[in-house]
Amino acid sequence: MSDYVNGIFGLKGQVALVAGASSGIGSEFARALSRAGADVVLGARRTDRVEALSVEIANDTGGRTLAVELDVTSRESVEKAFAKAKEALGTPTIVCNNAGIARPNWALEDTEEDWDATMNTNLKGMWRVGQVAAKAMLENGKGGSIINTASILGLGVGPQQLTYATSKAGVVQMTRAMAIEWQRWSIRVNAICPGYFKTEINDTFLDSDLGQQMLKQSPAKRAGNLSELVPAMLMLASPASSFTTGVALPVDGAHSVRLA
Ligand code: NAI
Repeated sequence: MSDYVNGIFGLKGQVALVAGASSGIGSEFARALSRAGADVVLGARRTDRVEALSVEIANDTGGRTLAVELDVTSRESVEKAFAKAKEALGTPTIVCNNAGIARPNWALEDTEEDWDATMNTNLKGMWRVGQVAAKAMLENGKGGSIINTASILGLGVGPQQLTYATSKAGVVQMTRAMAIEWQRWSIRVNAICPGYFKTEINDTFLDSDLGQQMLKQSPAKRAGNLSELVPAMLMLASPASSFTTGVALPVDGAHSVRLA
């Protein structure tokens, strides 16, 4: 990489924490952040998975990695994870706020439990991680970049997505609110809005007839590859986006802008 490109996009000297790193997008983000030069903290409830991935990434890149237990629905767990990260690698300057769940259901069928579980993880969990991250960054005095994984379902809506889409729309608005308040401390907050990428959260749906039909009707006529999502995250994580904050960036092959 040329010095010019490395100066803009390189992450050497940065510490990145990924929430929800045990699968899918979070795992891919962790790999990419290490390849770009950051020390990486992999946070998840499934510690066996992040411990194995942490070793795999360190062997691959030669970078420093750490696996920590992290449940975004518990403030104690989030604070502990940030404390462990600080102790082992330093205060995170990049946080991929990525943990999420989906419970597709017809609006008339959603239960109180569906609503609470979805909001507690997708919206309140991201708020909690974002706030703990910002407090740590403020104390550290170096600023940072928080990247919330929202969704194109935070920008538009589809059937059976009432709770999920509502939570992700909340993430988009929360991102903007955080951005305007925390800019004064050089803490940038952006949302990435993926279209459809096949992971554990949606593989059954995408393999179904309905899922296949939905993809065929989308402008790109296919799901995205995770390698097509990662660069947008790296841009938001890196000095390349030093004046970019409060943005909700779709990475979706134009899925979210198509009207018919
Ligand atoms: P995934 O199911 O592989 O990953 C979600 C991760 O969040 C899992 O590792 C899961 O264990 C973790 N998680 C759930 N609850 C948690 C909790 N309480 N504490 C800590 N971690 C928790 O699916 P994927 O696709 O990688 O999802 C990552 C994010 O991307 C989610 O926020 C999802 O809503 C979002 N997203 C995914 C899209 C896709 O097409 N795959 C599209 C748009 C958004």
